[in-house]
Amino acid sequence: MFNVKKELDFASQHECLVIGVFQKTTNLKGTLAELDSRLDGYIMELLKSGDISAKKKGISKVHTFNKIGAKRLYFVGLGTEKEFSFELLREALGRLFKSASSERWTEATFVLDTFTNENVDSLDAAHALGEAFAMGTYQFEGYKQKPNLPEKNIESLTLYVTGPETDEVEAALSVGYVYGMGVNSARTLVNTPGNMLTAKDMATYAQELGGKYGFEVEILEKEQIENLGMGALLAVNQGSEEPPRMIVLKYQGKETWENVIGLVGKGITFDTGGYSLKTKMGIVGMKTDMGGAAAVLGAMQIIGELKPEQNVVAVIPSTDNMISGNAFKPDDVITSMSGKTIEVLNTDAEGRLVLADAITYAKFHGANYLVDVATLTGGVITALGLNTTGAFTNNESWFEQVLEASYEAGEPMWRLPIFEKDWERVRSSKIADLNNSPGSEGHAIMGAAFVGEFAESTPWVHLDIAGTSVTKQNHDLGPSGATGVMARTLALLIERFEPIS
Ligand code: BES
Ligand code: ZN
Ligand code: ZN
Repeated sequence: MFNVKKELDFASQHECLVIGVFQKTTNLKGTLAELDSRLDGYIMELLKSGDISAKKKGISKVHTFNKIGAKRLYFVGLGTEKEFSFELLREALGRLFKSASSERWTEATFVLDTFTNENVDSLDAAHALGEAFAMGTYQFEGYKQKPNLPEKNIESLTLYVTGPETDEVEAALSVGYVYGMGVNSARTLVNTPGNMLTAKDMATYAQELGGKYGFEVEILEKEQIENLGMGALLAVNQGSEEPPRMIVLKYQGKETWENVIGLVGKGITFDTGGYSLKTKMGIVGMKTDMGGAAAVLGAMQIIGELKPEQNVVAVIPSTDNMISGNAFKPDDVITSMSGKTIEVLNTDAEGRLVLADAITYAKFHGANYLVDVATLTGGVITALGLNTTGAFTNNESWFEQVLEASYEAGEPMWRLPIFEKDWERVRSSKIADLNNSPGSEGHAIMGAAFVGEFAESTPWVHLDIAGTSVTKQNHDLGPSGATGVMARTLALLIERFEPIS
């Protein structure tokens, strides 16, 4: 599917040749200069006249009238050299691949050095290309009798490189593609309706993923969950016809099981709110309440492909949150696996309950560092909007590593505080150790602090993706619907991980 070749052969036949162009270019360099001279200086002329757009993400198509082997040239605008970045390149290429489906391309050929400058080297550019290819061509098939699929799929990508490093470029391209495909798997899980992705289905998916990559898999069924005393997960599941699952995947990349990173993802397959029932508008879309689980599974797919020398345990508590004569109720007091008792004031604050037992179980499996990812609160949307993930921590150094990974992935997050008074609020129940909903002020912080109670002194970061896990808009790197957010950040975090001394 991927070919990396040295030096462009101008005579070879291609459906299209894709070239990056910068704004304010006065003289063309390298392969582009050569191409320009073969086309009698037209490229420079069309750039000057604006017929080829060098503006950020501008896409222009030019016919070559058989002057070279390629039939058409596609120009991707990269903006000014100064502002050029990996992130901009990903987005520009994503946009190109999205337009490719209407162009009915089956192959695309890139002149890699035209997508590089001092900010982005050829390995970064190849990674961006692989990632944008996977993410930009993603479609959720859906369930129409005529599926939502592109008319044609691109079957091969060819990159022409100028330097000696064809192997490294090919590896970077594949790694980028692996990252993008991890995101796409997360997207598909989130886009799948609740009736087609129950806790049992999620467990089957994890089992298959584990089988493919040789992870150790443990799927706890209801009886085992009861025996282990996971009263918080059981309470949320109590009103459901579907039994819960606690899903564990272990990846051991070091000789010994130490410095273990625990990834915990909220896996609520549908959230009605329970007796604290959501409104008829608020309930729509709650099939996506397993976005945290999807991010963790997407990251595990990337880890399975790349096999970094790290140890990871992924834990996913999964159930739906339903109503029935048997469902848990506000005022109930439940006992979590940790022994901590919880007064339930709001059955719609169910995510923190299932995460409580999952965090305890991740520690039981040896997690020394924790990140949980969850569509936890509407409050984080009020605080940060729909483009920024809310981040919370009990450990500055661990948070720094997570933040670095999110910068590198281009998945923005912003820290919100948990001060002593906030911790006191989640401990404010008169009759139990904790209270799952201490009032509507600072929702997102209350959710985080509640989960943090179970991390205790283990370095922990909580990522609230309620605002970022789905989008209503089509964007450069994908369609509306699930974004697959945090799959890439988590995988990068694992790849780059350094134990805290
Ligand atoms: N799954 C929701 C959070 C959510 C809201 C995700 C909107 C995506 C979009 C969560 O379980 C929830 O209902 N949270 C409540 C907490 C409250 C009852 C303390 C919320 O944020 O309103
Ligand atoms: Zn809820
Ligand atoms: Zn929820």
